Amino acid sequence: MLDIAILGFGTVGSGVMEVIDQNADMVTQNAAQEIRVKYIVDVRDFPGNPYEKLIIKDFSVVENDPDVKVVVETIGGAGVAYDFTRRSLLAGKSVVTSNKELVATRGYELTQIAREKGVNYLFEASVGGGIPIIRPITQCLAANRINEIYGILNGTTNFILTEMVKNGTAFDETLREAQARGYAEANPEADIKGHDVCRKICILAALCFGRHVYPDQVPTEGIERVTRKDIANAAKIGYTVKLLGRAIHHEDDKITVYVAPHLVSQENLVSSVEGVMNGIVVRGNAIGDVMFYGAGAGKLPTASAVVADIIDAAKHINARKWLSWADSDPESLLDAGLLESRWYVRVAGSEEAVKSVFGDVTFIPADPGRADGDVAFVTERMNGKKAETLFDQMAVQSAFRIID
Ligand code: HSE
Repeated sequence: MLDIAILGFGTVGSGVMEVIDQNADMVTQNAAQEIRVKYIVDVRDFPGNPYEKLIIKDFSVVENDPDVKVVVETIGGAGVAYDFTRRSLLAGKSVVTSNKELVATRGYELTQIAREKGVNYLFEASVGGGIPIIRPITQCLAANRINEIYGILNGTTNFILTEMVKNGTAFDETLREAQARGYAEANPEADIKGHDVCRKICILAALCFGRHVYPDQVPTEGIERVTRKDIANAAKIGYTVKLLGRAIHHEDDKITVYVAPHLVSQENLVSSVEGVMNGIVVRGNAIGDVMFYGAGAGKLPTASAVVADIIDAAKHINARKWLSWADSDPESLLDAGLLESRWYVRVAGSEEAVKSVFGDVTFIPADPGRADGDVAFVTERMNGKKAETLFDQMAVQSAFRIID
């Protein structure tokens, strides 16, 4: 039997308890031993909760209990979660987490401590919710040079964009629904402004390219500027608006990482990833494109990945799984502004004015009878820096890269 402790009894922590209980036979069989939750640490009270007896407030009880070999951190954030994770690793315990903010900001340091202490720091649930992505990258695709990884990495914003397209539902109403379903972050600004995607693409970049990329090194734009007009314009030319995280490994080994809404061609499978689903494309030099698809957020899908890591940690109590990378090197980063693409642009102005600034463009026909003064069009290929200089010359309402 293996004793574990869960830190944080919120959406994910309670989901982990539920999966361990409900799937006890499977968990025992796959871990080749019984997994027993000895403590749940949370500062809140849970009167009447079936697991009330396990709940304690003092983390040092876990830290000082030699029987607890695996600690599950589902607190979130990079404050107390960092302190408890560090102390658990230093106490010789493996740590399993869904905390993308902590892995993205402190992952290099924490994996180093894990290595020094001969324990494991596992975080399959930190990217893509229940989708297996960390292990496939580090194990199944290990024979490849990964040239690019991109995709839909946030369930909340994809749910909002999908509802805007399908049902014309208002933004605030859909966000409330995403919160009620347990998809959104404690502070949903992290979803809406793209920070959650930024953290996840940083983790993927580190795993794919072997070097830590910190969130503050990554240009990040959320979905605040996406309007129903943009979604309708995109549909007219066979595209769907999606918030993407993207990391590119150039031939000279430089790395470009950024987060922004894109117009994705309806020929590209990523455009049909709807609702809370995530879809992640990995481009390897031997395998070509592989896409990972599934529930990207939510209590049980996320718990599914956390419990799989608990099982893995239980099976590797006396062995280290290789999961680490080099620290960041600002010299290795290539500005996203140097990347070329076609651009979708919507401006307040006339077609003549657009032509005089942007030259040869393809206009998207306006709805008959609509006279809102907006003109939408698609540019020729140009890099982000050149595009910005042109955008500065007009009253640009929206401008998104196009991906085919
Ligand atoms: N808020 C996140 C999302 C949770 O919506 O994708 C899963 O990481």
